Amino acid sequence: MRALCWNGVNDLSVETVPDAGIVNPRDVVLRVGLTTTCGSDLHFIDGYLPGMAPGDVFGHEFMGEVVEVGSQVSRVRVGDRVVVPSFIACGACWYCERELYSLCDTTNPHAAMQQPLIGYPSGGIYGYTQPFGGYAGSHAEYVRVPFGDVNCFDVPEGVSDLQALFTSDAAPTGFMGADFCDISPGDTVAVFGAGAVGLMAAASARLLGAGRVVVVDRLPERLELARTRVGAETVDYSEVDSVQETLREMTGGRGPDSVIEAVGMEGHGTGVQQVLDRTKQALRLETDRATPLREAALAVRKGGVLSVLGVYGLTDSFPMGVVLNKGVTIRAAQQHGQRYVPRLLQHVAAGELDTGFLATHRMSLEDSVEGYRIFKEKEDGCLRAVFTPGPVPQVQ
Ligand SMILES: NC(=O)c1ccc[n+]([C@@H]2O[C@H](COP(=O)([O-])OP(=O)(O)OC[C@H]3O[C@@H](n4cnc5c(N)ncnc54)[C@H](O)[C@@H]3O)[C@@H](O)[C@H]2O)c1
Ligand SMILES: [Zn+2]
Ligand SMILES: [Zn+2]
Repeated sequence: MRALCWNGVNDLSVETVPDAGIVNPRDVVLRVGLTTTCGSDLHFIDGYLPGMAPGDVFGHEFMGEVVEVGSQVSRVRVGDRVVVPSFIACGACWYCERELYSLCDTTNPHAAMQQPLIGYPSGGIYGYTQPFGGYAGSHAEYVRVPFGDVNCFDVPEGVSDLQALFTSDAAPTGFMGADFCDISPGDTVAVFGAGAVGLMAAASARLLGAGRVVVVDRLPERLELARTRVGAETVDYSEVDSVQETLREMTGGRGPDSVIEAVGMEGHGTGVQQVLDRTKQALRLETDRATPLREAALAVRKGGVLSVLGVYGLTDSFPMGVVLNKGVTIRAAQQHGQRYVPRLLQHVAAGELDTGFLATHRMSLEDSVEGYRIFKEKEDGCLRAVFTPGPVPQVQ
């Protein structure tokens, strides 16, 4: 089958690789319908996070049609149109029972590689490094889905393939970030980052009752989407002296009740700290440029919630004193998609959540190397590049 492979830093190529197939009796094989880029992939393309092996199939956000089921699969059937969350859950371990699906204790066969780094290993994820399980990713014609009954969600009629695609990763991640904020009706929620994750976090904050949602970024086309598609207010951080001061003024001096950080380790910033971060990152003394994380901690009101969705590795100069003295609650996780996907599909079907607009670029899997270039450069307003194995349909 054809697949997009990671070969090294800034080196991707579409290759012919062995077909995906059933390995365990609870596996399902999907013919990939649509698969898309994610900001997380950039950390591996740019070489800020280690762990990909040359030849690994990339991609973790996808939907498609079931073409094969293992002998112990009981619910999912061949022909089902399904969406699959990016983290793989077993549905039965201590963590899955508590709906902490990305922490699944069963699905990471390379747990021993990860344990020394983070203490207790996470679950497995498609196309996202050897320490995260070494599973083949979704930028391919077919993908193996372990524990198919737990991880495949039927797409309801009335929800298009494109709308369903983003309930795999961007939407549940954003929704989880808003859920972490324990929003009371009328709360003000600020979202740092207007990528697909941040926009979905902003839309979710509205669904969960926020009175005001303020999205912070510097890319005009993304801020425009935050206003027109999500109904958020916006701040262009490159146009203000201090994001913190701006948010303080917008909230009558108190600050937002919660701040969702949806930028991650490749965040931009200005000033001395950014120069220091860039230098340290280049010298491999720290993996992260954590300006937005620090600003988010400063911006949130006393007693508020800092909800971290952006992916970080080693972060220097995190203002722990700010967190302590302001009594801030920090919540962070890789997405627990299985908990949110059914609800999100219902919101989409009911017209309460718009996801399809995230697909600014569509192309064949054969053109996915160029797709990643456009996505990485954020060229031509690219928010997400969506790949289709085979011909790209003209109308979705
Ligand atoms: N927790 C999870 O399960 C999960 C899932 C998916 C993605 N992520 C992470 O979420 C983050 C965002 O993903 P994405 O796909 O939306 O990425 P993206 O790269 O498309 O968007 C990031 C946005 O942040 C903006 N930005 C940069 N510096 C900023 C600053 N100082 N203040 C405000 N905005 C700033 C950029 O202009 C960009 O629009 C990434 O770190 C990704 O790895 C986490
Ligand atoms: Zn992702
Ligand atoms: Zn589990």
